[in-house]
Amino acid sequence: MDDEWICARLGEDEPWQLGAVNPPVFGSSVFTFGSMAELGAAIRDEDERYVYWRGTNPTVDLLQRKLAALERAERAKCFGSGMGAISAAISSLVSAGDHVLVLGAVYGPTTQFLRYLEKFGVTHTHVADLAACEEAVRPGTRLLYFESPSYMRYEIFDLEAVAGWARGHGLVTVMDNTWSTPLFQKPLTKGVDLVVHSLSKYAGGHSDVVGGVVAGPARLIRPLALTEYQLYGAAMSPHDAARVIKGLRTLPVRMAAHQERGLAVAAFLEGHPAVRRVNHPGLPSHPGHGVARGQMSGFSSLFSVELDTDSRAEVGAFLDGLRHFRIGVSWGGFESLVNAPALTVEESVRATLGVPVGLVRLAVGLEPAATLIEDLGCALGGIA
Ligand SMILES: Cc1ncc(COP(=O)(O)O)c(C=O)c1O
Repeated sequence: MDDEWICARLGEDEPWQLGAVNPPVFGSSVFTFGSMAELGAAIRDEDERYVYWRGTNPTVDLLQRKLAALERAERAKCFGSGMGAISAAISSLVSAGDHVLVLGAVYGPTTQFLRYLEKFGVTHTHVADLAACEEAVRPGTRLLYFESPSYMRYEIFDLEAVAGWARGHGLVTVMDNTWSTPLFQKPLTKGVDLVVHSLSKYAGGHSDVVGGVVAGPARLIRPLALTEYQLYGAAMSPHDAARVIKGLRTLPVRMAAHQERGLAVAAFLEGHPAVRRVNHPGLPSHPGHGVARGQMSGFSSLFSVELDTDSRAEVGAFLDGLRHFRIGVSWGGFESLVNAPALTVEESVRATLGVPVGLVRLAVGLEPAATLIEDLGCALGGIA
């Protein structure tokens, strides 16, 4: 089925009550039954039946069906945040004594969650590439977790090669596909087992919702829905699901605009003398560009630049000097944002993480590219 159709209409072929074009928001925490026998049957099948909001809800269910279709997954389960989805997905697959391989750089709190799991006897190893995976894999390794593009430097991994290697070693693969959205990359079709997303970024698109999703085969989603979803309580609300459904309606047109503006801004920065390097996989100069073009159908607008300075003061002055980009942590909304991770941590922590002082992350929003380029050009004057 066509992605644009899924975003606009899947599950909504019949007009809603009174001819409404938007689905009703089922703001009911509880659903009632005609008999105890009916309630009992529903509780036994609570990942599919509407019993209580912390299990599932019809509005959330509609969003789940759309997201499963976009990821070409049998099923999807939505959560109250991306971290809710990531922590549930990982912990549904490991037990005490198991080991996890983390390929490339991943979102900071994901690594923090893996560290947290150490107190339950689950260990992990960070590796840079498949050769290092081969060295680090051990009999207790169960899971390979990764992002492509990777976090902060946007390195590309060959999805078929990673999934094939993991399968050959009996590992389950989990991939965070937030950067690409399900429109630009479909990891399950390349052999990845489970995909996770933060829906707080492009899927929502308006910086007015926090949510997450895990998508994959029913054999992995059903146990996770019945156990981790119910017990951790990171439930998605129907009101938030309605916001993400609204975000999906315009996702194809927004992503085309994000791609165009992101590439225009990245190309400008690549040619600027105050910039050492631009980490955007959509630029032909990026080392992973060829592989990216083979497995992705587009590029989103989150990338990083390495400024030609090692002075915290100069980097800070550059960010403070921007008039249209706003300073903030998230990304994927209509608004352009910047952040310099090195300036938010102590120098000793920065050095351990290996983040250059001059690394600045840009999330290009939907403002005109020319305005954003002019803004960056003015602020970079202080460095050049
Ligand atoms: C790549 C990536 N994955 C997951 C998350 C977590 O999502 P959430 O903030 O919805 O919990 C984020 C948040 O910034 C992220 O950047």
